[in-house]
Amino acid sequence: MIKPIIAANWKMNKTVGESVDFSQRLAKECEGLEEREVIIAPPATALYTVSLALKGSTVHLSAQNMHWEEKGAFTGEISAPMLADMGCEYILIGHSERRSLFGETNEWVNKKLQAALNFGLKPIVCVGETLKERESEATFDVIKKQVKEGLNNISTGDIGCVSIAYEPVWAIGTGKTATPELAEEVHRFIRETLSSCFGESVGAETAIIYGGSVTPKNIGELMDKPNINGALVGGASLDFESFTGIIRY
Ligand code: PGA
Repeated sequence: MIKPIIAANWKMNKTVGESVDFSQRLAKECEGLEEREVIIAPPATALYTVSLALKGSTVHLSAQNMHWEEKGAFTGEISAPMLADMGCEYILIGHSERRSLFGETNEWVNKKLQAALNFGLKPIVCVGETLKERESEATFDVIKKQVKEGLNNISTGDIGCVSIAYEPVWAIGTGKTATPELAEEVHRFIRETLSSCFGESVGAETAIIYGGSVTPKNIGELMDKPNINGALVGGASLDFESFTGIIRY
């Protein structure tokens, strides 16, 4: 049984003060909540103070992005050991906004994934097709390529720390959620792809979470599907009541 993951991706939102305030309230709200893996990914500016605010709580901390090199002349970048040093446990890799706005490729995703694993971070690898790709019936080819190239050369031992987030690009921030049936179809396909690359047990045990306009209203029907193991939530995670509503679906 895979423990459901509910992860908040705050993107470029919230000051340090707002992030800490939200985190403290969330830590209280999630006291004793063992049946969900609750994760928040604040902006990089707030990671360290939020990690202090979450100490001893059941809420886990994630970063939104990282560079694959350990250190050096990479102005503006943050490395995996720096994130680990700040108390991060998880890292989002290959979010569609990184891919479409910042040119992130499957090869970069793979480099970041290897670096994250080397420094003990748990990666959440994001995949998803654009509207154009869906309309041209390329969804499964695109997803297969993202999973295979993104996870290339990862050992079966390490893959246990990796989760996948399926986020159809056309559903992110648009209010257009994939229907539970449509999401389930892709989740099942990702599980089959993982099984064929890494073996049946990896396919069966890897958490595959859904992202794209998740709200307290639609989380229940998504989570009813057997291959949907949680949610990566953008817009609806910025509001405390809305995010806690999703956690308690
Ligand atoms: P959304 O974003 O919930 O606002 O659609 C999801 C994401 O980008 O992770």
